[in-house]
Amino acid sequence: MKTSTTCPVPIATVRSLAPPGFEANPARGRFNSAFFSLMGGYINWHLRKRKAKAFADLSPNVVELGPGVGANLRYLPSGARLIAVEPNPYMHARLRRAARRRGVELEIRSAVGERIDLPDASAEVVISSLVLCTVGDPAAVLAEIRRILLPGGRFSFAEHVAAKPRTPTRWSQRILRRPWAWVFEGCSCERDLASLIESAGFSSVDINPFRIHSPFVPFNTHIAGTAIA
Ligand SMILES: C[S@@+](CC[C@H](N)C(=O)[O-])C[C@H]1O[C@@H](n2cnc3c(N)ncnc32)[C@H](O)[C@@H]1O
Repeated sequence: MKTSTTCPVPIATVRSLAPPGFEANPARGRFNSAFFSLMGGYINWHLRKRKAKAFADLSPNVVELGPGVGANLRYLPSGARLIAVEPNPYMHARLRRAARRRGVELEIRSAVGERIDLPDASAEVVISSLVLCTVGDPAAVLAEIRRILLPGGRFSFAEHVAAKPRTPTRWSQRILRRPWAWVFEGCSCERDLASLIESAGFSSVDINPFRIHSPFVPFNTHIAGTAIA
């Protein structure tokens, strides 16, 4: 049976580890795992100031949605315990290695953000980056985040959003939407996530739009901030 060089588990087994609601595609799953491993430093360099602000002073018990290969482990305090809701089994081996390197106690939940297998009011902090653009149903994910957060709990995020209408960036997001979504496993460049977060029922929301300057034009518009349950 064929095995992956980054994951010693047979492909068929890895694929069957994907939860309902997430289609694990071996080629794209492995490509994205390698892509975010190779490009993670570059992406983070562009987002670093906004992420440092949004993810400042996290408590040691954190739930992260779609952590991928561990781009945000660097923002966790020492001795942190991370529950990683990551449906893509091709991310898991790299995420485990990265958590070991950083001394983070890691528990992977192979679940989608639309159905998080954690009890109501059980989480102090939920974080995400570049995930709400990728999930199938961002409104359902936000409802799940509110469900699992303790009253007063914090959701902090840095997310990729649609550019303002009638701008060259918005046109590029429109034109490239199909190949972009195919390569990046569902990533949409066309979501108004600020409005979705604002209308998700949090008690307070602080959202800051910003732009990065990368050659990947459809990827250049973002928001970062914190919402309180
Ligand atoms: C663009 S990657 C971002 C990874 C990482 N957060 C980062 O900033 O590098 C999107 C991540 O969301 C995950 N994902 C996709 N659909 C999801 C869903 N329905 N629920 C939770 N995570 C999901 C993917 O597997 C992937 O790890």
